[in-house]
Amino acid sequence: MTTGNKRERRRHVVCAADELAPGTSRLAELGRRRILVVRDEDGRLNALSDVCPHQGGPLSGGSVERMWVADRPGEHHRSEDRTVAVCPWHNFETDVSTGCSAWEPRPLRAATYRAEIEDGDVVLYV
Ligand code: FES
Repeated sequence: MTTGNKRERRRHVVCAADELAPGTSRLAELGRRRILVVRDEDGRLNALSDVCPHQGGPLSGGSVERMWVADRPGEHHRSEDRTVAVCPWHNFETDVSTGCSAWEPRPLRAATYRAEIEDGDVVLYV
């Protein structure tokens, strides 16, 4: 028998998988909790709190996009694997896979949640 603080997560169907195309996101409202569900351009699912870790702006009001990166000054390009939610209030970028701010990862972090595609549906475990 195990003991500890493991909490049973509840399963929530968000939408049909074909309603969340690669490169798009959707806001899921579960009671008072607002969760941004993101399907990146490669089809991977991520879910994070809709509350920006900077000052609480609504991430769902901004954009979701590949992060701009640079190998050298003046040579910017889109990342091949990092997707960020760009907050509409002050343009902070939050990595959708970790919930961490792209530039201040330690103190600024949004909660993340497990998201899966099951039987043709997008499902959250919260
Ligand atoms: S509240 Fe989101 S960037 Fe400031």
